[in-house]
Amino acid sequence: MIREILRMGDPRLLEKSRPVEAFGTTELRTLIGDMQDTMRAANGAGLAAPQVGIGLRVVIFGFEASPRYPQAEPVPFTILVNPVVTPLADEMEEGWEGCLSVPGLRGMVPRWVHLRYSGFDAEGEPIEREARGFHARVVQHECDHLDGILYPMRMRDFSRFGFTDVLFPDANIPED
Ligand code: NI
Repeated sequence: MIREILRMGDPRLLEKSRPVEAFGTTELRTLIGDMQDTMRAANGAGLAAPQVGIGLRVVIFGFEASPRYPQAEPVPFTILVNPVVTPLADEMEEGWEGCLSVPGLRGMVPRWVHLRYSGFDAEGEPIEREARGFHARVVQHECDHLDGILYPMRMRDFSRFGFTDVLFPDANIPED
């Protein structure tokens, strides 16, 4: 079932989410299924539970090809519950980001270039991976949602913040 995506300004997007305590439950499976339906319907690269109004530490992300990020390399589809992100190098890199909760806009955001992430799938099976580049960027963006952080709150240069269709008039990126 497609759920409504909360937009920036809703105080629920600024709350710290709580850890999932029970895996493999109908409630968790339904939430994740609905998040997948919602992300797919919006052509999203990722989605975090607080974006659909649920304050639990659950994110999903991944795509083969993203109409919203046509230049991005594929990211494996991943369900990540109670994630932990650990940078593996000091290096940070600026890159364009958007967010389904901040529709129509893009901004330049600094992120760690190389990291490890771990967590669990819906059944409680552990996941651990290293990621770089756009994959690492998506993980940081989605996990930030669990701490009430939206990407504009990470930006350093607001001259590189604007409407997607004005910034990239020839890219034909779908409206959020
Ligand atoms: Ni987002």
